[in-house]
Amino acid sequence: MQNFENQIVCGDCVELLKQAGDPFADLVFADPPFNIGYTYDRYKDDLEYEHYVQWTKEWMTECARILKPTGSFYIAIGANYAAEVRMIGRDLGLTLRNWIIWHYTFGQQTKMKFARAHAHILYFTKHAKEFTFNDWAVRVPSDRQLLYNDKRANPLGKIPDDVWDCFSRVCGTFGERQGWHPCQMPETLLARIIAVSSNPGDLVLDPFSGSGTTAAVANLMGRRYAGIDISEDYVVNSQQRIATIHESYRTDLDGGSLDALETLELRRLYAESGVKLQALLDKPKLMKLFCKQFTARMNNGKGYDPALIAEAIRKFAYFDLQSRMVSDSV
Ligand SMILES: C[S@@+](CC[C@H](N)C(=O)[O-])C[C@H]1O[C@@H](n2cnc3c(N)ncnc32)[C@H](O)[C@@H]1O
Repeated sequence: MQNFENQIVCGDCVELLKQAGDPFADLVFADPPFNIGYTYDRYKDDLEYEHYVQWTKEWMTECARILKPTGSFYIAIGANYAAEVRMIGRDLGLTLRNWIIWHYTFGQQTKMKFARAHAHILYFTKHAKEFTFNDWAVRVPSDRQLLYNDKRANPLGKIPDDVWDCFSRVCGTFGERQGWHPCQMPETLLARIIAVSSNPGDLVLDPFSGSGTTAAVANLMGRRYAGIDISEDYVVNSQQRIATIHESYRTDLDGGSLDALETLELRRLYAESGVKLQALLDKPKLMKLFCKQFTARMNNGKGYDPALIAEAIRKFAYFDLQSRMVSDSV
């Protein structure tokens, strides 16, 4: 029997998962080809409607089968097939917890219709009531805290909405961009899903591993991973990505350092909170709140020096600063 643990396996996910024995995954994240004519190494993204829906049923069935009874199943899908995925999920007895809209910046330009700037992420659980949901790992500062200074605000922040607009698509100029794959998911988006729906040591499966985003982030976050892709080149390249992700995230600073996980989580909180670096620098109370939230997320008993946090953000907030400089000058 195929061993999936901490492996990226080359092959057809339906065939491979059929051979797997008992349920082994605590979390499945699936980002299949959307049937919109993308160019992949070993897959033609242009099937007849019935064929694509039948295939979707097959891989969703296998993923649901190998998911543990308390497991969670996230599926990223385009607008054309989101309704079908929802119905298949219902037929498989899965519980839909959220229908998430990922609204991304850098949408694709069009000439005769509005530009497409979102994808759907359907979040299912196998059991209606028993599943992992680490709310503390995804809470963000609320408007009550940030805008209204309202004493009734929950000091832990709020759980984010089901419209996710804080994660940009991975553009060609981004450091995390793997030039050899046509469509990567953002690492911070995967980090949110992995943080909330799994615990350290859990196994996270991605049946359409692609550039290996899910596996690389899961590994960085202390989870076990399993990935499958039909392209041997993607498999080999993503193994290399996983081997180097820790090193690429570690941040050395004048005042100390942040390890890879701390850096990833700081980037995620900075993106998710929507707070700008300048505001953090100008307002010590805001910085204190931000550091408190970060400490809660890290959950490692450590305290974080605001000066170090500011220095780290300054290092990765280049794009943010740059876009603000442009708008300031208009
Ligand atoms: C949308 S991409 C996934 C991208 C991935 N989420 C990432 O961040 O890089 C879909 C992937 O599915 C793979 N694929 C297509 N058919 C497959 C199959 N039957 N079994 C496994 N992988 C398949 C393609 O090679 C492609 O890399």
